[in-house]
Amino acid sequence: EKGGYDHFMLKEIIEQPQAIFDSMRGRLDLDKLTITLSGIEQYAEQICKANRIVIVSCGTSWHAGLVAEYLIEELCRINVEVEYASEFRYRNPIVNEGDVILAISQSGETADTLVALENAKSKGAIILGVVNVVGSSIARLSHAGAYTHAGPEIGVASTKAFTAQLTVLELIAIKIAHIKKTIDEQQYAHLLKELSAVPDKVQTILDTQLPKIREIARKYKDARDFLYLGRGYNFPIALEGALKLKEITYIHAEGYPAAEMKHGPIALVDENLPVVFVATKDRYHEKIVSNIQEVKARKGRIIAVITEGDEVSKGLAEDYIEIPDADEIVAPILSVIPLQLLSYYMGVERNQDVDKPRNLAKSVTVE
Ligand code: F6R
Repeated sequence: EKGGYDHFMLKEIIEQPQAIFDSMRGRLDLDKLTITLSGIEQYAEQICKANRIVIVSCGTSWHAGLVAEYLIEELCRINVEVEYASEFRYRNPIVNEGDVILAISQSGETADTLVALENAKSKGAIILGVVNVVGSSIARLSHAGAYTHAGPEIGVASTKAFTAQLTVLELIAIKIAHIKKTIDEQQYAHLLKELSAVPDKVQTILDTQLPKIREIARKYKDARDFLYLGRGYNFPIALEGALKLKEITYIHAEGYPAAEMKHGPIALVDENLPVVFVATKDRYHEKIVSNIQEVKARKGRIIAVITEGDEVSKGLAEDYIEIPDADEIVAPILSVIPLQLLSYYMGVERNQDVDKPRNLAKSVTVE
């Protein structure tokens, strides 16, 4: 059942090129330059004229929501708010008729997400779902949506469901942007091409970086705390990296936008603190390189996820993991892979039950 792997988590990490491909299959057609998402198309008009889209989710799915916020704002020029379902449901949120609520959930059974959606639906909102489990409660409650095709996820820590969510959210954002004409034909074609190239690029990471990541995991397995930093599209990935580490290794970790470092967390930096920078080449690259220099000046141990061939970052980092070059819009689907693997291998090094971390359930059906 584990397909020859020691753990479901590793199997599911390795399945990601397929899960991402399957989530685009029959939807993205690179020859015809089309995206087919019937559920979304049905509500395209309402989405295009929405004053705002509210994304509701929990945990890793909430991190996917944060990436979607950047994507939808940038590409579709629609205001997006990302809400923890548990907070949204209890604070008497303002929801009006015709508001678009986008739910993201692997299991489709998360209690807080489900109730938040029920409340919004009763106020007349349009509920769209990005869900992995077919026929689940959230899928049934949604007016429309697009399934992720990650396949069953058994490991308690979400991996392939997350990258499948990002893939579907990219498709939705690009589709709506094309309909709204907030991107031109050239950019549209470019984005479709970039997205189609993702499965092969993920495969490249898996084929080339595993020994290196394992070595880094051995080196840092006894660290007490970790800091994860990223900017822009990689900021939610820093949060996701920290969450994955907490779950799988029980090491305390925090994720921050890199520039927020100066407003507090930099006080933690000393020669014992590993700091993971998600620092791929994008419009913020120069800025994050100066954040790396700031941590280095305080003797922090720098582990950097970088774009291959980035000699400057290589020179600054104590350890680095290289990933293929990609448009910053799809980069999070790639940059999260080394962080999943780092947590996995550190968990294994620490003899932890990586598939079933203590105190956690695969789907949180009680609040
Ligand atoms: C983290 C993890 C959880 C879930 C969260 C939401 O690895 O798996 O944080 O992402 O419980 O679950 P779903 O997506 O099923 O609503």
